[in-house]
Amino acid sequence: MRCIVTGAAGFVGSHLAERLLEDGHEVCGIDAFIDYYDRSIKEKNLEGPRSWKTFTFVEGNLTHLPLLPLLNGVDWIFHQAAQAGVRASWGAEFARYTECNVLATQRLLETALRVGNVKRIVYASSSSVYGDALQFPITEDAQLRPYSPYGVTKLAAENLCTLYHHNFGLPTVSLRYFTVYGPRQRPDMAFHRFCKAVLHHEPIRIYDDGLQTRDFTYISDIVEANLCAATSNTAIGQVMNIAGGSRVTLRSVVDILSQVSSSSVQVNFEERQHGDVRHTFADTTKAQHFLNYQPLVSLQEGLANEFEYARSLYRLVHTA
Ligand SMILES: NC(=O)c1ccc[n+]([C@@H]2O[C@H](COP(=O)([O-])OP(=O)(O)OC[C@H]3O[C@@H](n4cnc5c(N)ncnc54)[C@H](O)[C@@H]3O)[C@@H](O)[C@H]2O)c1
Repeated sequence: MRCIVTGAAGFVGSHLAERLLEDGHEVCGIDAFIDYYDRSIKEKNLEGPRSWKTFTFVEGNLTHLPLLPLLNGVDWIFHQAAQAGVRASWGAEFARYTECNVLATQRLLETALRVGNVKRIVYASSSSVYGDALQFPITEDAQLRPYSPYGVTKLAAENLCTLYHHNFGLPTVSLRYFTVYGPRQRPDMAFHRFCKAVLHHEPIRIYDDGLQTRDFTYISDIVEANLCAATSNTAIGQVMNIAGGSRVTLRSVVDILSQVSSSSVQVNFEERQHGDVRHTFADTTKAQHFLNYQPLVSLQEGLANEFEYARSLYRLVHTA
């Protein structure tokens, strides 16, 4: 298949591009190298995909790029590009969130419509569309009450995908990812910050009391869900939770990190941040039904892999 992966230089996009290439597909990656985090990290993410002859890369912003020639003849679009991050989405930065998350998605959908023949558009939605949920585990029909401006933009883009499906028959599928982790995780995300702190022999900073919980999802499970969303015909038009089934407190994460790094880890607790929800925990029955989805990687194994990645990224010899 001919595929487009938007956000291909990012955490999820680079893994997805690599897996598609390994599976024998042709991939065109698009990324604007948004400066939310260091370009050198994204260039490193791209090393794997760039080693394939069947990979092409276009640097540019989805809000301005001439998309028509890029989408012509494409079978699958995996739309991973977004301005991510809950905490930075307040204030003046919101303009970037609306541009990268809402306008870019609308432009991509319009172009896919004009091109015709696109077989699947898989959109990377987010658990942030639920906000502070009232019941657990969270099913897809739970009330949608985003708790951050980021969540508002992710929901708006998800709604755009669904309405382009209903109005024009565009074959969209939206996957609501629950906290993704693993090698190449964004540097602003908790596990990455925790691993970096341990490697630098610094205390870990946890916002709030550490008893908040997250349903953590390993990157290879997210990638697999994307592939199934592209190939399952019954998934068209659906919105599904994709989660890891490893709901734990951040305090437990610290204990696991302490084991995998063989270090005693010091923690400083700081104020809860605006936009942060207290708990996430997904019901993935729908994804099991439509995608045969089953998370395979345990938190212990996944965190060990992320710690090894962080060690090589920061090129530090770690002594316990
Ligand atoms: N990482 C998570 O835990 C998580 C959870 C839920 C949803 N998501 C969603 O998954 C997707 C991937 O997240 P990630 O963690 O890999 O983020 P990331 O920041 O590592 O990757 C996103 C990439 O998109 C690019 N990008 C942003 N706007 C663009 C634009 N307008 N044009 C071209 N490129 C653009 C950025 O430069 C970046 O490289 C995002 O849509 C995010 O909202 C992620």
